[in-house]
Amino acid sequence: MAGAAALCLLLAALAFRAALDRHVDRRYAFAPVVPAVPADGAAVARGRHLAVAIAACVACHGDDFGGRAVVDNAVFGHIYAPNLTRGAGGVGRSFTAADWARAIRDGVGPDGRGLVVMPSDEYEHLSDADLGALIAFLQRLPPVSHALPPTRLGPLAAGLIVLGRARMIAAETMRHPVPATGAPAPGDTVALGRYLATVGGCAGCHGPGLAGQRVPGAPPGTPAASDLTRSGIGASWTEAQFAGALRTGVRPDGTPINPFMPWKYAGQMSDGEIAAIWAYARTLPPAHR
Ligand code: HEC
Ligand code: HEC
Repeated sequence: MAGAAALCLLLAALAFRAALDRHVDRRYAFAPVVPAVPADGAAVARGRHLAVAIAACVACHGDDFGGRAVVDNAVFGHIYAPNLTRGAGGVGRSFTAADWARAIRDGVGPDGRGLVVMPSDEYEHLSDADLGALIAFLQRLPPVSHALPPTRLGPLAAGLIVLGRARMIAAETMRHPVPATGAPAPGDTVALGRYLATVGGCAGCHGPGLAGQRVPGAPPGTPAASDLTRSGIGASWTEAQFAGALRTGVRPDGTPINPFMPWKYAGQMSDGEIAAIWAYARTLPPAHR
């Protein structure tokens, strides 16, 4: 009997391993759409603002873009966001503009592998101008010498990948190559807010329609991402309170916002950008009645 049970377990483990390999070993072969990469100071400054405040690459790749462990435990795994600079161990040493575009907008590495945890299903909506500015900024990063070990998936990350939940390999759910996208029309505040809520990840955590949800794959004990529509904070908060909460990480009632909410980065958006997200959230149907 014990032998039969052990055999069953072994077969289940092998089947799981094969299913995981199908996801992890899949290769995506396509020519990415590469934007023009500008060289002027204004574009590079725009790239920095995207990398720090809007798309918050620093949240995972580190304040100096030298790479760091995004998750580091035996259950989920040891997941490393690589060094993006030209320093030793950095991908910037060898990356071409096409490699940057493929990694950021398609979520695929130069070897054709779908990147794990890297949220390209948000960045696929970056406009061509913004992607070009971002690449211009990344190419000019001061070199940081920092080599990271390869990512090792733990049982939880592996399970989430096999179950296809929690957007673990964004490339799997996208069509490649991601086509070029235009920027929101100048002066269209609501369109700008929708754009920022998408590429800025608000919708990725707070759910489509910003209706609020438990964030898939979030560590146990993380509160649900709040309802940002008129039935949620929109029912009682003012625009100034919304901006204040993002800038300080403290709600109008004085309680702190859980650090899983990346307010430190979102709070570095401009007044106009925060106002645009608020304006967009107010156009959304209330999530609850
Ligand atoms: C939620 C965390 C997270 C955020 C935010 C994030 N990344 Fe990543 N990124 C990762 C991880 C983890 C990997 C490694 C994935 C792998 O090796 O499978 C990665 C991989 C990459 C790679 C591929 C490197 C290679 O070896 O092929 C590039 C380039 C990159 N990220 C750039 C960016 C840029 C630019 C931004 C912001 C626009 C960004 N990332 C935002 C987590 C993140
Ligand atoms: C990585 C996931 C994640 C991202 C990205 C994210 N949020 Fe959040 N957010 C959360 C979670 C989780 C909470 C709940 C925190 C708590 O209850 O303490 C939250 C709370 C908030 C709150 C406080 C609401 C309340 O009811 O107290 C505001 C405001 C907010 N988020 C706005 C935004 C905006 C705007 C963006 C995009 C710029 C954004 N969030 C991006 C996860 C996220």
